[in-house]
Amino acid sequence: MHTTALKIADKPAKNAARILIGSKDTNWEKQGFAAASAKLIKVELDKKISPVMVVDDGAYNFVFAESTENSYANNEKWRKVGAKAQVAASQYKLDSVTLVNATDNKDALTHVVEGFVLANYKFDKYKTLPQSSSTVKELVLLKGSIAEKTLKEIEHLTDATLIARDLVNEPLSHLTAEMLSEEITKMGKEAGFSVEVLNKSKIKSLKMGGLIAVNLGSPNPPTFNILEYKPKKAINKNPIILVGKGVVYDTGGLSLKPTPNSMDQMKCDMGGAASVAGAFYAAAKNELPIHIIGLIPATENRPGGNAYTPGDVIVMHSGLKVEVLNTDAEGRMILADALSYAKKYKPELVIDLATLTGAAQRAIGSQGAVFMGNADDKVKKSLSDSGYAVYERLVEFPLWEEYDEMIVSDVADIKNVGGATGGATTAGMFLRRFTDYPWIHIDIAGPAFLEKTEAYRLKNGSGYGVRLLYDFLKKRI
Ligand code: BES
Ligand code: MN
Ligand code: ZN
Repeated sequence: MHTTALKIADKPAKNAARILIGSKDTNWEKQGFAAASAKLIKVELDKKISPVMVVDDGAYNFVFAESTENSYANNEKWRKVGAKAQVAASQYKLDSVTLVNATDNKDALTHVVEGFVLANYKFDKYKTLPQSSSTVKELVLLKGSIAEKTLKEIEHLTDATLIARDLVNEPLSHLTAEMLSEEITKMGKEAGFSVEVLNKSKIKSLKMGGLIAVNLGSPNPPTFNILEYKPKKAINKNPIILVGKGVVYDTGGLSLKPTPNSMDQMKCDMGGAASVAGAFYAAAKNELPIHIIGLIPATENRPGGNAYTPGDVIVMHSGLKVEVLNTDAEGRMILADALSYAKKYKPELVIDLATLTGAAQRAIGSQGAVFMGNADDKVKKSLSDSGYAVYERLVEFPLWEEYDEMIVSDVADIKNVGGATGGATTAGMFLRRFTDYPWIHIDIAGPAFLEKTEAYRLKNGSGYGVRLLYDFLKKRI
C-alpha cells in the first residue's frame, strides 16, 4: 500500500506543481496565470481537453473544469478528475502537488482528493526492483479550502479502502485464514475495535458444520472472526452486524473449477471479508457513534484429503441439514453459519457481503453489485442511495417465495445449489433460511476484482464495499 501524505499549507510553495479545479466560468487570471495563459486555458477547456497543462513561471499546472452543480454524477466526475490528476502528476514524476479549488463548491475538492488518493495506489510489495511509474508522495491542500476534520475523515476512509485492496491482492501463499485473522487483529488495534479469533476446535464446538465442511479439503485450519466496535455514545441499542465471506482461495473443491481462467482471480474470494474489515477500520477511526459487530468465517476451499463431497449432508450451525451438490457453492455454506450465529445478538440489521456467484457477475458486470434481502424498503432505499453517493451502485434482485422450490433437496432440508438460471437469487434464497432478522445480502462477485483500470478504480482488488458501508452507517447518525 502507498498512502498519500495529505497536508494543509498556508499558501502554495514557490514553484509548486498545481492541480487546479474550476468550471467553465472560472477567471483563471485570478489564479495567478498571465493573461495569455489564462486565455489558452479557457480555449482548451472549451475543447474538453482535460487536463490543460500550462507551464507558467517555471511550474507545472494541471487545470480541470467540470460542472459545479451538486449531483451524484458530478461528484463522480470530480473523483475522476482526482484520478486524472494523479496520472498526470505521476507521469511527470512529481513528489508533491498542490490542489487548488477555483470553484465555490467545497465538496468538489473533497471528491477530487478521494479520487486522487484512491488512484495513487500500487500493490508492488513483491517487486524486487523499484517500478518506473511510481506514486505521488504528497498532496497539499490550501488552508481554508477544506476543513481539517473533513480531510481526516477522507484520509481514514481512503486508508480503509486501500487496506481492503491490499487484503484482496494478497495471494493465498501470503494470506491464509489465520494470516487474515492476524491482519484484521492488527487493523483493530490500530483503529480501535476488538477482534476475537475462534480457532478450529472452537468452531467445531460451536457446531459450525458449514465452515468445517468447506475446510475439510484444506491443509490450513479455518478461523471465525468476531469484530466489535462499541462506542460509548452509540445511538443504536441493538447492533448492526456486518458479515463478510472470507474464502481466502476458492479452487471449487472437488467440484474443481476448470483451469486456467476461472481460478485465476480466486484469491479475491475474501473480498467481502476485506470490505467488512475496511468498514470497521473507517468507522472506528472516524469514531462513528454506532455499535457494530463483524462476523467473518474464513477458510480455503480445496479438494485435498478429506474434502467434503457432492452428495454429503452437512448439519449446519442452525441445525438445518444441507445436501451438498456442488462443493464450489462454498460461500453460502460458511456464510450460513455466520448468519445463524448472528441471531444471538438480536441485531437491528444484518448486511452480508460476498463474492458469491458468477451469476451476479454475469448479470451486471463490474459497475455495481447485486443486493437482495428482507429488510424494509426504507433501509434498502438508504443503502441504494449510498451506492449512488459513493458510486458503488447497487441493483436489487428478487427473493420471491417461488424460488424456494429451486433449493429443495431429495434427501435433506435444502441443497446448496439451485438450477441453471437465477443463480444469484437461489444463493440468496439459501442464505435467507439462516436469518430471522432484517437482512440484506450484497453479492460483490462483479466489482470485487477488476480486470482493468478505470479512473480511480484500479485493476485487481477494488476495496468495493468499504465506502458503501461507511456512507450507509454514517447516514444513520
Ligand atoms: N467464488 C465463487 C463466485 C465468484 C465468481 C466470485 C466469479 C468472483 C468471481 C463462488 O464460490 C462460486 O464458485 N459460485 C458458483 C456457485 C455455483 C456452483 C452454484 C458459481 O457462481 O458458479
Ligand atoms: Mn466457489
Ligand atoms: Zn467462492
